[in-house]
Amino acid sequence: MISEPLNNEWVVWAPAKVNLYLEVLGKRADGYHELNTLMMSLNLYDTIRFREEESEVITLRCTNPTLSTGKDNLIIKAAKLLQLHTGCTRGISIHLEKRIPMGAGLGGGSSDAATTLTTLNRLWQLNLNHEQLNQLAAQLGSDVPFFLTSNAGWCTGRGEIVQPLTCPRPFWYVLICPHFGLSTAEVYGQLQVPRNPRDGEEILQAVRQGHVEKVRPLLFNRLQEPAEQLRPELTKFMSLLQQESPTGVLMSGSGTTVFAMCRDQGQGHTMVHRVRHALQAFPGVRTYLVRSSM
Ligand code: C5P
Repeated sequence: MISEPLNNEWVVWAPAKVNLYLEVLGKRADGYHELNTLMMSLNLYDTIRFREEESEVITLRCTNPTLSTGKDNLIIKAAKLLQLHTGCTRGISIHLEKRIPMGAGLGGGSSDAATTLTTLNRLWQLNLNHEQLNQLAAQLGSDVPFFLTSNAGWCTGRGEIVQPLTCPRPFWYVLICPHFGLSTAEVYGQLQVPRNPRDGEEILQAVRQGHVEKVRPLLFNRLQEPAEQLRPELTKFMSLLQQESPTGVLMSGSGTTVFAMCRDQGQGHTMVHRVRHALQAFPGVRTYLVRSSM
C-alpha cells in the first residue's frame, strides 16, 4: 500500500504474513530446500517513509534500535540492488517504523525489501516490469517475491515462484510472538527431509473456497518439529492456543510465531483476551489479533 507523496515524503505499509501450509519436498544441489507453501498477508504492518534526497546517498533510520540499519539490512540491500541493476544514482532517505516482530517467521524483513523495490521503482522512475522486479526480489530472499505479488499465494521452488490465490473472505488469527527468534538456516539445518512429502491440494482448495472449518485441521508446517527441538518453549505456547482451539494451531514459517486460526472474529476476541491473561507471566511475549488482507 502506498500513499500519494506529501511534502515530498511517500508513506508505504509493508504487511506481515503467515504460512498456513509448508511442506519440504527435498534438498537441492544449491543447499536450499524445494518446497510448497501457502502464504497469506496480514493487517499487521511496518510503516516505511521514503524522502527523496539531492545527494546519491541511501540512508535508513529505524524505530527499533536492535535492528541494523547498515548494508546487511534488507531495505538497504534492495535499494542498492536497484541502483546496481539500473545504474540509477539517485539517493533516498528511508525511515522504518518496525512493528512486525523480527526473526518471527512473519516475513517482516522480506516485506520491507519488496516494498522498497516497488516504491523506489516508482519514485526513481525506473520502469522495471513485474518480471524484472521479481528477479531482483528472489535475489534478496526466498520470501520476497510473495510480497510483490498478492495477498495470498501458493509458493514453490525455494518459495520464490508465486502463484497468486484468491480467498473470498478474510481469516482471523491469534498470534503469539515469543521473546526469542530463530535463524531460518538453523531450522532448515535441523530438518529431516520427508521420504514421502504431503500433497497440499486439499488445503489449497479449502482456502480458495474461504472455508475456515475445512482449512483449520489441514494446517501443516514441516519446519515446526525442528523448531520445537531447537526451542522447546514453542510447544508450551502452542498448547496454550490448543486449550482455546484444539484444531487450527500452527507455527509460521521457520518460527518463532505460533498462531491459532479462529473460527471467526468473535472467537478471536475471546481467545486473544484469555491468551494475554495466561501469558502475563512471560514478559516480552507479544500477542496479536489479526486478519488476512483482502
Ligand atoms: O532465502 P532466504 O535468505 O530467506 O533463506 C535463508 C536460509 O534459509 C538459506 O540460507 C537456507 O539455509 C534456508 N532455506 C532453505 N530452503 C528454502 C529457503 C531457505 O534451505 N527454500
